[in-house]
Amino acid sequence: MNVMVIGSGGREDVISEAIHRSDKLGSLYAVMKNRNPGIASRCEDFLLAKETDVERVVDYALLKKIDLAVIGPEAPLEKGIVDSLEENGIDAIGPKKIPAKIETDKSWARQLMRDHNIEGCPEFGIFRDLEGVKEFLDDHREVVVKPSGLTGGKGVKVVGEHLKDKRDVITYIKEVLKKHESVVLEEKLDGEEFTIQAFTDGKDLIPSPAVQDHKRAYGGDKGPNTGGMGSYSDNGDILPFMERRDYDDAVKILERTLAAIREETGEKYKGVLYGQFMLCREGIKLIEYNARFGDPEAMNTIPILKTDLLDIFESILDERLNSLDIEHERKATVCKYVVPKGYPEDPKIDTVIKISGRMERETDKGEMVANLRFANLKMGHFQMPRSKIFYSSVDERDGKIYTTSSRSLSVVGIADTIEEAEKIAEGELSKIEGEVFSRHDIGKESLIRKRIEHIKRLRG
Ligand code: AMP
Ligand code: GLY
Repeated sequence: MNVMVIGSGGREDVISEAIHRSDKLGSLYAVMKNRNPGIASRCEDFLLAKETDVERVVDYALLKKIDLAVIGPEAPLEKGIVDSLEENGIDAIGPKKIPAKIETDKSWARQLMRDHNIEGCPEFGIFRDLEGVKEFLDDHREVVVKPSGLTGGKGVKVVGEHLKDKRDVITYIKEVLKKHESVVLEEKLDGEEFTIQAFTDGKDLIPSPAVQDHKRAYGGDKGPNTGGMGSYSDNGDILPFMERRDYDDAVKILERTLAAIREETGEKYKGVLYGQFMLCREGIKLIEYNARFGDPEAMNTIPILKTDLLDIFESILDERLNSLDIEHERKATVCKYVVPKGYPEDPKIDTVIKISGRMERETDKGEMVANLRFANLKMGHFQMPRSKIFYSSVDERDGKIYTTSSRSLSVVGIADTIEEAEKIAEGELSKIEGEVFSRHDIGKESLIRKRIEHIKRLRG
C-alpha cells in the first residue's frame, strides 16, 4: 500500500512512525507545510505545501499513485479534502467535509447534541449578533465564549481566567463575530478534563485509553490556551481520577454522536472521533469534539498500540472494524511539548534547538527495529521503547532544527506507571537546549494528586 500522511506536527510524526512499522506499507509519502525531520526521514518523497491546498495535494497523490491518505489536522478536513480525494479514487482516513462539522462548526455540534438529546451537553446559546447575549449572561454566573469556527485550539475564552467580567465577554464576542458566523456561549463547568479518541468506520467505534491534555501554557494550569502542552495516560483505559463508569459514559456519548451525525447528514463518519470530556459533579459533560487524533494525545495512544495501524485503517475503509480486536499495551505514558519562548502569544521563531545525547528513535535504526518488532510480536513479546521524541512545527535546514511559531517537539516517556514515565520524559527534556520552555508539572505526582482531590471534593 502506498500511503500519504497529510500534516507536519507531532501527531503526524507518530502516525507516520506507526505506519512505517507496518509490513503492509509499500512507500510512505507526506504533504507538510514545514519540513518535519521525523516524517521526512521515513518518506520516499514529500511535498512541501499548504495542507489546505486541496488541488495540489490531490494532484500529488495521483502522481505518486497513493492508495490511502491519512489526514492529520482539521483544516484540510474543513476544506473537503476527503471528498476530493475520494472523487479521484483515493481512499482516505478522516471524515468528509459535512460530517467534519462536528469539529469545524461548534454551533452545529452543540445543536446536534441538543436535537438528538445526547447526554452531557452543557447549557448553551448560539449567537449571530448581540441579541439575547445579555439575557444569557444574566442567567449564568460564569460563561465560556467559543468561536464557532476553527482557531487552532486558541479561541476559547473562559470567564474568571481569560475574561474578567461581562464587559470583557461582550468585547470578545464582538471580536469573534468579525471573523466567525456565530459564537457559542456556554455555562462554565467545573471538573477534570479527559480525552477519548475512538477509531470508527461510521457504524462501530473502538475507543483508545483516556488521556489528559494540558491546554494552558504555564504550570499550575495558568496562562493562555494553547494547542496542548502535554498529556498523560495510565496503564489501562482510565485515568487516576476516573472510575470505569465515567469512561463508559463518555464512550456512550461518542456512540450516540456517531449515530446522530449519520442521521443528520446521511454520511458515514470514517476515521477518528475525538471527544474531550469534563468529569463534573453531575457526571460527564462534552467539552468539544475533534474530527481527528488529538495532538498531543495521539503521542500517548499510538506508541502503545499493539495492533497494526494500517490494519485498523483498512478495516475502517471496509467497514469491518467490529471484526478487529484493537489492543494497547498496558503502559502509562507522559508526553511533554517543547515550545518556543513566548508561545502562544509572541513565540520566538527561527531560533536553533539542539538535542544532545541519543534519543531512542525507532526510525534511526530503520528496518532493523521494524523487523525486530515483527519478530518479537510473533514470539509474543514486544519490547516497548522507554522514550520517544516526536518533531512538530520545526524546520530542518542545513542540518539544524529551527523553531517556527508553533509547538516545536515533544518527548514521550513510556513505563509501567505514570510516575516512572514522567521521570523518563523529564530525562529526555534535559537533553534539549534552546530558547524554549515546557510544562514540567505534567504527569507529576503532585499535579495528579490535585486532580484526584478535585474530583473527590466535587463528588463529595
Ligand atoms: P476547547 O477548544 O473547546 O477544547 O476549549 C478549550 C478549553 O476551554 C478546554 O480545554 C477547557 O479547559 C475550557 N472549556 C471549554 N468549554 C468549557 C466549559 N463549558 N466550561 C469550562 N471550561 C471550558
Ligand atoms: N489536544 C487538543 C487537540 O488536539 O485539539
